[in-house]
Amino acid sequence: MKDLLADLDELKQEAGGSLAAAESRERLQAWHGEFLGRRGRLAQLMRQLGEAPAADRARLGRSANEVKRELEESYDARQEAVRQRELETALAAERVDVTLPGRPVDLGRLHPITRVLREIDRIFGRMGFQTFDGPELETDEYNFELLNMPAGHPARDMWDTFYTTVPNLILRTHTSPGQIYAMRSQAPGPLRVILPGKTYRYEQVTARSEWMFHQVEGIAVGEHIAFGDLKGVFVAFAEEMFGPGRRLRFRKSYFPFTEPSVEVDVSCILCGGAGCLLCKQSGWLEILGAGMVHPRVLRWGGYDPARVSGFAFGMGPERIALLKYGIADIRYFYSNDVRLLESIRY
Ligand code: DAH
Repeated sequence: MKDLLADLDELKQEAGGSLAAAESRERLQAWHGEFLGRRGRLAQLMRQLGEAPAADRARLGRSANEVKRELEESYDARQEAVRQRELETALAAERVDVTLPGRPVDLGRLHPITRVLREIDRIFGRMGFQTFDGPELETDEYNFELLNMPAGHPARDMWDTFYTTVPNLILRTHTSPGQIYAMRSQAPGPLRVILPGKTYRYEQVTARSEWMFHQVEGIAVGEHIAFGDLKGVFVAFAEEMFGPGRRLRFRKSYFPFTEPSVEVDVSCILCGGAGCLLCKQSGWLEILGAGMVHPRVLRWGGYDPARVSGFAFGMGPERIALLKYGIADIRYFYSNDVRLLESIRY
């Protein structure tokens, strides 16, 4: 009996010391297995009780149970302490210092061509122009014939064309085919629309020309539309797009689908007309082609040229963006270099 009591006491001491040293859940679990488990050391001692003299057994049993209860309590307390410590460590590690300055959020920005397209849309929208859309894959008929360029017409050479493997199907070389769609959707009623979109030309890529670029086509048809209306619209447009005080110059030109035809220049936005590198000392920057819609084109659009007239124009947003934002090379627009976007100050 003496031995068993001493063993119990020794076990209790040892278990207590070992428990105090257990710093993690894993160690705690191992401790539990060693001392309190079904095959643990306390269980082994208790099995020996059966061999003790009958007179001592009850007392020994009580002592053993008491040791067991004490160890279980110590275990629970230790477990709680370890859990608490782990929680504190985690909280300390993940603590957020709310006084730290924030990290700046880098905002995306619109591509300059998107900006110019939206600006054009807004300016013409205020003058009563609706925005229409047309296909980028076109037929020879729409891209050329209905614009007064039958097969073999020499003016076709003004547009270097991408052909496809489908006969007659080409990538549109300009947005002018949209004029036909727009007229046919509104004739014989009045018409005032712009048609922005991508155009394609089989051209050498240089600082000034790309094989894909945008155009914004415009057309107005009605009973009393004169060349003066065309002029008025562009005076208003140039002021809004390039700032007040712009002067315009209308140079006679040739397009098969307009008669008369003009090219429109705006006074240089850099030097104001005195002459500089941007305008190549001329004082003028060309911004668009335009004219009065050719009677044949009007007729093919569904109008009677004896009753109505109209003007049309085509402008290049890339060219406008180059001038407006002082970008040196058209290739920057489609090289996917975000530094271009970051460099522009609007
Ligand atoms: N489509 C012409 C081009 O690509 C631009 C143009 C000129 C459009 C005169 C027009 C116009 O509507 O009237 O060069």
